Amino acid sequence: MAVDKGFLWGGATASYQCEGAWDADGKVPSNWDWWLHERELPNADVASDHYHHVLEDIALAKEGGHTAYRFSLSWPRIIKDREGTVNEAGIAFYNKIIDACAEAGIEPFVTVFHWDLPMYWEELGGWTNTQTALAFEHYARVCYEAFGDRVRSWVTINEPKWFTSRGYLVGDYPPFHQNAQEYIQAGFNIMLASALGVKAFREGGFEGSIGIVHSYTPVYGIDDTIESQIAVRYADNFNNNWVLDTAVFGEFPIDLVTELSRTYDLSCMKPEYLRIIKANTVDFLGLNYYSSTDVKAWTEGETTLRFNTSGKGGERGKIMVKGWFEQVYNPHHKFTDWGMEIYPEGLYHGLKKAFDKYHVPLYISENGIGCYEDIVDEPVHDDYRISFLQDHIAAMLDAMDDGVDMRGYFVWSLFDLYSWISGMEKRYGLIGVADDEEHRRVPKDSFTWFKRVIETGGDCI
Ligand code: NOJ
Repeated sequence: MAVDKGFLWGGATASYQCEGAWDADGKVPSNWDWWLHERELPNADVASDHYHHVLEDIALAKEGGHTAYRFSLSWPRIIKDREGTVNEAGIAFYNKIIDACAEAGIEPFVTVFHWDLPMYWEELGGWTNTQTALAFEHYARVCYEAFGDRVRSWVTINEPKWFTSRGYLVGDYPPFHQNAQEYIQAGFNIMLASALGVKAFREGGFEGSIGIVHSYTPVYGIDDTIESQIAVRYADNFNNNWVLDTAVFGEFPIDLVTELSRTYDLSCMKPEYLRIIKANTVDFLGLNYYSSTDVKAWTEGETTLRFNTSGKGGERGKIMVKGWFEQVYNPHHKFTDWGMEIYPEGLYHGLKKAFDKYHVPLYISENGIGCYEDIVDEPVHDDYRISFLQDHIAAMLDAMDDGVDMRGYFVWSLFDLYSWISGMEKRYGLIGVADDEEHRRVPKDSFTWFKRVIETGGDCI
């Protein structure tokens, strides 16, 4: 079945990961700028230099037949200080992107927050502090007012669960903490921020729709025993429901909250904030799908939340939430260079499950594979990426055949960019970005292949 004409096909990026120009034209430091400079870690000061290549990048998206471009706005580029002063040069930069999209017939699909928090909020505790969530409402309103006349598809927050767990529990993203209490507070405040973003959108009467993007990992038990099924419920609550139930139903999963209240201080969940969350639910869900999760029961009885991960280049990470579940890896599956399980069937099941449960339109807001690649003059022959994308798009089309209301599909990423703690060496792009001074754009074979997918509405899959 070919998809409808209005179905969005495109590539995705995020401000910190691609823009560079980290201190240009009035932009203030983000938490990532500050922490990575402080620790002398590889950073995205320059990244793909999208700031200076934006017109070329959008022209390439057009050449590739894309009908949408998913990108994010940088809070520290737009708002200069805690008083909420707007940086007009930041607004001008995003106007340039949005106007170029309009000229190219490309729909902008805009994420308000994709992890780059102004340092002036990080200094006060970042997402552990409810003030950050309250400030997000002002920032979001500034964005809708500046761009809402041309943007019809908005996302409040990208992957709330993922970046808060890495920053406050695993401890390998800024601010590099390992503290379950902080994680829970940040996990609450970020959902409050999202609801405040929805509230500002509705109050302003802007046209279009607003959603949230989640790092979706459908959960499977290793068997049908009651112990495994309980582990599945814990893992699903922990991985998915905290974000999805809260965004769509306006309520945190009650069994998870009850469980957490035994050990942690949940006083941040004030009734007036819970009312805001209940009243401001999303229109759609964006699901970022990379892989699924297999779990078994954790047997050693400890109940403190603790993550323990490792894993790059095939050494697979292990994730345990003690007392709840343990993630296991299926040795029969394939893995990426970074140890991510490749499992397209999980996308089919996950889409079915999400649509049956939430009944809102869905987008695949990210899907892709990170690889080691050398970008030279010739296109990279990335047949492995083509086969990854082909299998996942096929799974999405099967889910649509079976009644799931899908509205769009975005490849992560439009072009190579900075992959957080994996730096620039983990490449996801349909378009390569060379490591030279000019940051030359070199489309890969997958770029040409994806163009054909779009032209045929997915029929060539
Ligand atoms: C999800 C995140 O949204 C994005 O920032 C990240 O780079 C990709 N996954 C790949 O890991």
